[in-house]
Amino acid sequence: MNKNEKINWDELGFDYIKTDYRYISTWKDGNWNEGTLTKDNMITISESSTALHYGQQCFEGLKAYRTKDGTIQLFRPNRNASRMNDSCDKLLMPEIPNDKFIDACMQVVKANERFVPPYGTGGTLYIRPFIIGVGDNIGVKPAPEYIFSVFCLPVGPYFKGGLTPVNFMISDYDRAAPYGTGQQKAGGNYAASLQAHKIASDRGFADCIFLDPSTHTKIDEAGAANFFGITKDNKFVTPISSSILPSITKYSLLELAKDYLHLETVEEDVLLDDLDRFKEAGACGTAAVITPIGGIEYKDKLHVFHSETEVGPITKKLYETLVGIQFGDIEGPEGWIYKVN
Ligand SMILES: Cc1ncc(COP(=O)(O)O)c(C=O)c1O
Repeated sequence: MNKNEKINWDELGFDYIKTDYRYISTWKDGNWNEGTLTKDNMITISESSTALHYGQQCFEGLKAYRTKDGTIQLFRPNRNASRMNDSCDKLLMPEIPNDKFIDACMQVVKANERFVPPYGTGGTLYIRPFIIGVGDNIGVKPAPEYIFSVFCLPVGPYFKGGLTPVNFMISDYDRAAPYGTGQQKAGGNYAASLQAHKIASDRGFADCIFLDPSTHTKIDEAGAANFFGITKDNKFVTPISSSILPSITKYSLLELAKDYLHLETVEEDVLLDDLDRFKEAGACGTAAVITPIGGIEYKDKLHVFHSETEVGPITKKLYETLVGIQFGDIEGPEGWIYKVN
């Protein structure tokens, strides 16, 4: 993006914008090299790279937030570092030391400071770390070399409308197998979700709900976000499953619901046939933040939770608490905020 080009912070969506710098480090002969910032947003790799053919790659997503006093902070980047290493283990890729991961994110945010949206616009700087298997190879086996890179871009809301509820439909397709890679942030899960997403958006839904792949009777995930519901007796409930991504936002909400809102919290099966027990529902994730779910289409009927147009009071309170911590207006639990100096 040209130095003189102005960004309209209030109109940011979730689209690629080329920022000034990205970080890149390579792994060869058992070691990661020092890593460096570069202006080049193109990567040249062997045509036979495992990332291209066998999906040997994984990624992360986190955000930098501008606070009221103008400083910049990250939300729980250590959790993204650990989750990336879980993905690396599963896909037989070399781990990134947590410090290296966090340092790379910090370097990229600092070098692109002019792209961090001002406090109060609702915008954030989305950070995308990824690792790809590269080098010459043709058999189905782990790559001989790897690239770890981190880039960033300013973003607005992932689902249009922010705290306005959106509707979801149940997908007939699965994004992951019961004991496959659903718990990892592996690109293949997302390729597998594209068709289901298209069907939902062609039918006017914000996204689809994936069910547990073995029985198709329980809620797994809400598109690229985790699901939560608030029961009529004020419990915060979120699904437990071997095929959903362990959302850092979801685990944060489990703590905030308990310690800040004094709700009982449970991770358990969420049966489709028992949606009536919820008075509110939402999708949560780094990109989705908290997006209220107005209704879910199931068996040709729209099951409406609190309302199709208004956010429910508990979802609203959870949102204000989470976002308040992320932007530095509310003190979060110890160790959640990393200042970018
Ligand atoms: C499939 C999927 N589920 C859930 C989430 C939410 O995870 P997190 O809260 O760590 O961003 C994401 C990513 O944002 C995702 O891609």
